[in-house]
Amino acid sequence: MNEINRLVIATGNTHKTEEIRKLLGPYIKIIEDLKSYPEIGEIDETGLNFEENASLKAFAVGEFLGENSLVLSDDSGLEVSALSGEPGVFSARYAGENASDDENRKKLLRKLNEIDSDMSDWSASFKCVMTLVKGSDKLATFEGSVQGTICDEERGENGFGYDSIFIPEGYENTFAELPSETKNSISHRYQALEAFKKWLSEA
Ligand code: IMP
Repeated sequence: MNEINRLVIATGNTHKTEEIRKLLGPYIKIIEDLKSYPEIGEIDETGLNFEENASLKAFAVGEFLGENSLVLSDDSGLEVSALSGEPGVFSARYAGENASDDENRKKLLRKLNEIDSDMSDWSASFKCVMTLVKGSDKLATFEGSVQGTICDEERGENGFGYDSIFIPEGYENTFAELPSETKNSISHRYQALEAFKKWLSEA
């Protein structure tokens, strides 16, 4: 695998950075995120899909840091079949611009209960798109997804976002009940990072 000394993750979400550090830590010496670059500020996520937002974030940071910086973005979210793919790109702000994870989960459960109270189809998937740039050059895009079902009550303390209401296919526990090692061996983010590692080994 090609040696990388430093990678900047284009996110201010420390949960994402923590998961990415666990998975890439052995291969990359320094992994930073936007907490190290407060001068970059908020990046508007005006894209219509995960790929557009992943590009927006990667370029905003890559262009700011310049051509010597390798930047990887992560745009991700939950798509619920019975809600025609909602919350999708609005996952972080489903219940409003500054909504908490708790408010977002409650809104999702309320809407699902309204639309499908007998739980005939509560299937959902997490999606993740990562864009790798060097300065203003796009090098590659990586994707991952994991199928599962929404649980009708919150269960578990681990993780973040919708983890406490998402049961991955093949398991009986939510991502928030499963050990982080298990989530990090099957998740949408894990899969996108596996594609990134493969790209690195071939580059
Ligand atoms: P983004 O920062 O615009 O990519 O929004 C990501 C949002 O999607 C997060 O704030 C969570 O609500 C949700 N999300 C993405 N990945 C995960 C995950 O691994 N677990 C739980 N929720 C996630």
